[in-house]
Amino acid sequence: MNVLLAGGAGYIGSHTAVELLNSGYNVIIADNYSNSDKKAIDRIEKITDKKVISYTADIIDKIVVSEIFKNNQIDVVIHFAGLKAVGESVKKPLIYYRNNIDTTITLLECMAEYGCKNIVFSSSATVYGEENDIPYVETMKKGTCSNPYGWTKSMMEQILSDASVADSELSVILLRYFNPIGAHESGLIGEDPKGIPNNLMPYISQVAVGRRDHLTIFGNDYPTKDGTCRRDYIHITDLAKGHVKAVEYAAKHKGPEIFNLGTGTPYSVLEIVNAFEKANNIKIKYEFDERRSGDLPEFWANSDKAQRVLDWTATRTLEDMCKDTWNWQKNNPNGYE
Ligand code: NAD
Ligand code: WQD
Repeated sequence: MNVLLAGGAGYIGSHTAVELLNSGYNVIIADNYSNSDKKAIDRIEKITDKKVISYTADIIDKIVVSEIFKNNQIDVVIHFAGLKAVGESVKKPLIYYRNNIDTTITLLECMAEYGCKNIVFSSSATVYGEENDIPYVETMKKGTCSNPYGWTKSMMEQILSDASVADSELSVILLRYFNPIGAHESGLIGEDPKGIPNNLMPYISQVAVGRRDHLTIFGNDYPTKDGTCRRDYIHITDLAKGHVKAVEYAAKHKGPEIFNLGTGTPYSVLEIVNAFEKANNIKIKYEFDERRSGDLPEFWANSDKAQRVLDWTATRTLEDMCKDTWNWQKNNPNGYE
């Protein structure tokens, strides 16, 4: 079976490519490398000893994407191609709406033209918004997002669901990720943010490797046991394996389906810092500062549905997440550069 990974050279896409190749799927990656590096493709091939077909392509561009569908029989699309920096989305909302929504529409149009009936979409826990109780369950109504990035995810879920109403043959799998961290155990692929990291774990690992002086912890006055925010961190390999299960399911399913991919166990920012220090025997310098606008005190997943329907569950521990992050960062201090 041939799987097109739109945005597949990025952090989640590259790890998913490895798991798909190891499970016997053919992988085609199309990426404009706006937030990734072509070296990721070589590393995927090195880990798996298998070939990837890759295209430098802007997924917004229908002519370019049509060519990919014309030259390859695509059975399933996984749509990772999105801009994802929350703060940047507040400053440049139109760029986010243009990129994230138009890539989705182009993919759906090309799928319709070439008879591809299966799409798996990278959604986010952010669509639960501010109103819902924790843990989040798929049956809850979506909430109010605190930034344009979140709204693009919420809107794309709606667009994809509407497309599946119009075409009853279409299978739409919406995967709501919680907080993916870690790296492949080989240390050959991992998270390589451009510029200053927005997310916690890459910031910690860049402090550990000496690229940043200290971590700033945003707020220690939240109503949690140590005052810092709690999140559901999930190992990237567990998340990638969830995509393999979703692809299998998409091929035998019709209509829209939502799955949370998380562990169900939240950790605070301080617990993450302590776990990283303990797992890798490295001290992480940190300072407390004001809360970051838009952060919720805590949330985590109920992933029972993924376990029940997809036969998927996260198995890797926080220690694995911390060790694998450091293995990638210390072997690649400047990422793919
Ligand atoms: P990433 O930035 O590493 O990967 C996204 C990839 O898409 C990059 O390789 C980028 O170059 C590519 N891309 C962006 N716009 C494109 C376009 N117009 N044409 C072609 N390629 C394009 O991010 P990631 O962490 O791997 O995230 C993948 C997806 O999962 C994104 O849609 C993101 O919003 C979503 N997601 C990520 C997280 C997370 O914490 N990492 C959480 C929830 C959802
Ligand atoms: C985690 C915790 C911060 C950096 C974001 C998106 C979400 C999803 C995943 C992305 C928070 C704290 C962080 C730092 C800190 N999508 N922190 N200092 O905010 O839960 O989720 O990424 O595509 O939509 O919102 O993740 O890693 O940014 O933050 O104290 O330098 O770490 O305040 O409590 P978040 P995060």
